[in-house]
Amino acid sequence: MKILLIGNGAREHVIAETLSKNKDAILFSYLKSKNPGIIHLSKSFELGNYNDLAKIKAFAQKTRPDFAFIGPEEPLSNGVVDSLREIGIKSVGPTKELAQLETSKSFTRNLLKKYKISGNPKFKIFNKNNINEAKKFLDETDECVLKPDGLTGGKGVKVQGDHFKTKEEALAYCHEVLQTHTSVVVEEKLEGEEFSLQCLTDGKTVIATPPVQDHKRAFVNDFGPNTGGMGSYSCEDHSLPFLTKQDVEDGLNITKKAADALYRETGEYYKGVMYAGLIKTKDGIKLLEYNARLGDPETMNVLPILDTDFAEICNAIINQTLHKLKIKFQNKATVCKYVVPEGYPDNPLKNEKIVIGKIPQDARIYYASVDDREDGLYTASSRAIACLGIAENLEKAEKIAEEAAKSIKGKVFHREDIGTKRLVEKRIGHMKKILSH
Ligand code: GLY
Repeated sequence: MKILLIGNGAREHVIAETLSKNKDAILFSYLKSKNPGIIHLSKSFELGNYNDLAKIKAFAQKTRPDFAFIGPEEPLSNGVVDSLREIGIKSVGPTKELAQLETSKSFTRNLLKKYKISGNPKFKIFNKNNINEAKKFLDETDECVLKPDGLTGGKGVKVQGDHFKTKEEALAYCHEVLQTHTSVVVEEKLEGEEFSLQCLTDGKTVIATPPVQDHKRAFVNDFGPNTGGMGSYSCEDHSLPFLTKQDVEDGLNITKKAADALYRETGEYYKGVMYAGLIKTKDGIKLLEYNARLGDPETMNVLPILDTDFAEICNAIINQTLHKLKIKFQNKATVCKYVVPEGYPDNPLKNEKIVIGKIPQDARIYYASVDDREDGLYTASSRAIACLGIAENLEKAEKIAEEAAKSIKGKVFHREDIGTKRLVEKRIGHMKKILSH
């Protein structure tokens, strides 16, 4: 079974590892930069940009994979699935139109609204024609979140209280966004605890992987700037300490209805990953956003505990036979901690040597943004190495991940608090406070 994997991060490293568990799988990878972990698992690889669809197509023509797995959002938003389809290659990943689930905030909010799916906050979409109504909407809304309509690499979203204070500043940012984007989504700010529910779908059947909580802030105790994610945890009972089973069900139901709505809206089945960024609020589970791909770091929490053959799942997604599979995850807790260059995320120190010391036997490491040179590994411009602990409970998984992260030496840092009892209890306390109001 020949598989073309597109992507070069730790997410794709763990995808490659999981696909390779199938002894018939032969991996070909297309990467923006060299990832030693992915390259080691691949029969051959090609380096290139994710907007060079001609190059991706040529590599696919040469390798003739049975299917392609698209890791990051960038090639999806460029329409790589449509391009591969032109040469008869099917993909796990949505077409450009369906990838709007991630690439257009207004598309997703309008989809939920039109098909009467719960999960939307109060929101309004503004463009150059109706921006003069924004002040009234802001006056009627307590605190708000401003989202440019389009991919912004996680940097364009501004939250009242965190990034700006007053309604005047909000209005000014809306005007600024409209200089570069066709519209801006203004939403009420939701209070609660966030979690990621990554779902696999063939467009008809939707299967949830265990929920995961990511940590966006760069420093211990949730201080510092937002990042791509400093680490994440999941629990052995496939829930999270501040959620009920019903909360997880509610999140899955939103995604089941959204998958159905996508088909009704576009006439095309969504085949791939629908990753719901959810928040538990005093009014129930709400949708913050969808991603059209697996999460990073959240993929590290779910794929290594998957018991079912992942290549078989991919085939079922493509052939719409997901309903026939019994997908099983081990009842294990996981903690993932990212080791990142000093200065990350604003001014990461590049070209600094990283030395991987003695990693605990039961820990796993996944390469992200590293420069693999003859004399060893060096930091590049983003998160460097993900350290994963898997165990029967969170406490043990955290210790394994922490020991692994500590053994990586160089001008790097990681968050010691991710997955610790103290931080998890803080999350539970926060949720209790919100629910009691
Ligand atoms: N963990 C955030 C993301 O994958 O977008």
